[in-house]
Amino acid sequence: MNPQAIDDLIRILPKAELHLHIEGSLEPEMMFRLAERNHIKLPYANVEALRAAYQFEDLQSFLDLYYSGASVLVTEQDFYDLTWAYCERAHADNVVHAEIFFDPQTHTARGIAFATVLDGISRALTDAHRKLGMTSRLIMCFLRHLSEEEGFATLETAFPYLKRLHGVGLDSGEKGNPPAKFARLFERCRALGLPAVAHAGEEGPASYIVDALDILQVKRIDHGVRCSEDPDLVHRLAHEKIPLTVCPLSNLKLNVVTRLDAHNLRDLLHAGVCVTVNSDDPAYFGGYMNDNLLACRVSLGLNDDDVVQIAMNSFEASWLRDDDKTRWQDEIGRIALEWENRQEAQ
Ligand code: ADE
Ligand code: ZN
Repeated sequence: MNPQAIDDLIRILPKAELHLHIEGSLEPEMMFRLAERNHIKLPYANVEALRAAYQFEDLQSFLDLYYSGASVLVTEQDFYDLTWAYCERAHADNVVHAEIFFDPQTHTARGIAFATVLDGISRALTDAHRKLGMTSRLIMCFLRHLSEEEGFATLETAFPYLKRLHGVGLDSGEKGNPPAKFARLFERCRALGLPAVAHAGEEGPASYIVDALDILQVKRIDHGVRCSEDPDLVHRLAHEKIPLTVCPLSNLKLNVVTRLDAHNLRDLLHAGVCVTVNSDDPAYFGGYMNDNLLACRVSLGLNDDDVVQIAMNSFEASWLRDDDKTRWQDEIGRIALEWENRQEAQ
């Protein structure tokens, strides 16, 4: 199979993105624009100097920069501009549905109102639906380096807005912050009818994935790549159809893997795990949805069946209604068949 042709297939398939931190889509150019608009002085001379600082040793070294970068987001319009820019960029990659994380605690700790954050993001997502036909879900993440009490306080603040949230997540520094730390908070979220996801097995051990499933009762695991250290867990993920939202370029940038050709994404896919591909924090990790898929195609030798399976999985693992999932999966099947026929005719 001509690799170039598979790249075309990657570009034309409809896809869902399920692991995207909206604050992680803040491109350096926008960071400078917003800093100027809000009279904030950045500790970098220009966009090039900022981009040059994007050399990370691990998750924490990235998070330090990511949280300080988010300080340029102040007004409702800032959150709108950020979210709209992501939607336009994702739309160009044929992402037709996005389930987006936001970190309210990063902003409320700086005195930004929860409503300011939510209103800006929501208004852009409404426009993305109207103008781009892109559907979305919004997932409020708790920062796991903070306490469970602080998580409860955030849930309390979010209470009047719960109808506009589709679920909750858990992110930030994983090491030393196990899922069990948030057992009561996630129990409360469940009682409120909010489905949950959690980052687990990115830098933390495979046992954190098991705990996210058993204690937090999450519907999907974000990252989860360290599951391979526990073969019984890999079997469980496949058997119980628990999706992983894998972010290959993120894993490379944060040294979760040393080289992309050593990534376990393809092995997990072939072991029957519902693996999806996502961009995590694309402004920091050097690529959006298609960049991630194209890099995996090159480094892992993904073939057309793999690529189609990953696109199918992205809808399977989404929180779309079943009839919408089926509609997109039928569309993927139709496009893949047409593509194959074209290849044979050439
Ligand atoms: N917040 C933003 N990106 C993250 C990641 N890759 N892991 C944990 N928390 C995050
Ligand atoms: Zn993430």
